[in-house]
Amino acid sequence: MRANLITINDEFISFQQFCQKSKLSQREIALIMEPLATALYQNKLKQRVVYLLVFVFLATLIYYISTTEVVSWHLSAIGRVALIKLLPIWNWQHLKYERCFVRDKVDFQIFLDCELCEINNYIDTEYDIKPTELDDHYIKLHKAVIVKNAITNWKIPDDFDTEWIPCKLSSNFLTGPADMGRILEKLSQFKNSYFVHFQNCDRQSVKFFRMFAPKPPVLPTRLSPNQYSWLLLSLDYNVSNYKKIELIEPIALIGQLAGYNYFQLKPRSNCEDYCQIIEVVLEEGEMLIVSDLYDLSYRPFPEGENVAIILEMHN
Ligand SMILES: *[C@@H]1O[C@H](CO)[C@@H](O)[C@H](O)[C@H]1NC(C)=O
Repeated sequence: MRANLITINDEFISFQQFCQKSKLSQREIALIMEPLATALYQNKLKQRVVYLLVFVFLATLIYYISTTEVVSWHLSAIGRVALIKLLPIWNWQHLKYERCFVRDKVDFQIFLDCELCEINNYIDTEYDIKPTELDDHYIKLHKAVIVKNAITNWKIPDDFDTEWIPCKLSSNFLTGPADMGRILEKLSQFKNSYFVHFQNCDRQSVKFFRMFAPKPPVLPTRLSPNQYSWLLLSLDYNVSNYKKIELIEPIALIGQLAGYNYFQLKPRSNCEDYCQIIEVVLEEGEMLIVSDLYDLSYRPFPEGENVAIILEMHN
């Protein structure tokens, strides 16, 4: 096929030279050559379409193979190991965090209904509330609320997969990159006065956390299952400053599993002039719901062990 094309091309060129020697004008040569040029062009086009189809087919095949449970699990495991091995050579971590930030609410994003929080300077506590009531009186109005008896089936997570790499990790006993294994190891050596919090941003760890902190039945069904979750852990950690929680999704559900934590709700930048900062302490068994009208921060209770889980959800 290729040899044939070369022969044809050679003949084509010698024919063109013959035409020039015969003193035919460029226009006349073009006219004679036209049917041949068109045929060659069409042939080339056909070939390109075939290449394209083969490429699309292969890409689709690879995609579907990689989505099957077994293959994707192995691929992600290999990928993770490779990424960790790569760390000493190239620190890719900021890229990972960037991905986590992709859907971050940004400060310049304008919240349109600042009047919604004008008169809110405290947080209601509800004991026995129906999902529709919770939605209409609080969630849809961006009004924070504490619900009691909503997370009775939540448990403190244990038995973490040591290969997980959490997002937005912050602690007083670690520097640099860390996977779950390293966090747990350091934590076991660091017996007094610590805090650590992080976000679960990959599917496996979010799924794992759902077993310990399932979506409470009191939430309206229109809310998605959580896309991200957080763990807040502290022991005898006495500080006066609040630590910012960089949420991605618009609705956060905070469940206090042990001890206490202080939470600070700061109105979004363009609502600062309308609304007040609200501070609240969350006790064991209580659940706090906050919308992205507020920026969320927390401060560990200075005594004892404190554990909270945050679920991020969207409408
Ligand atoms: C925490 O620190 C403050 C000021 O440093 C101190 O007054 C307070 O007693 C401490 N609380 C605990 C529980 O240690």
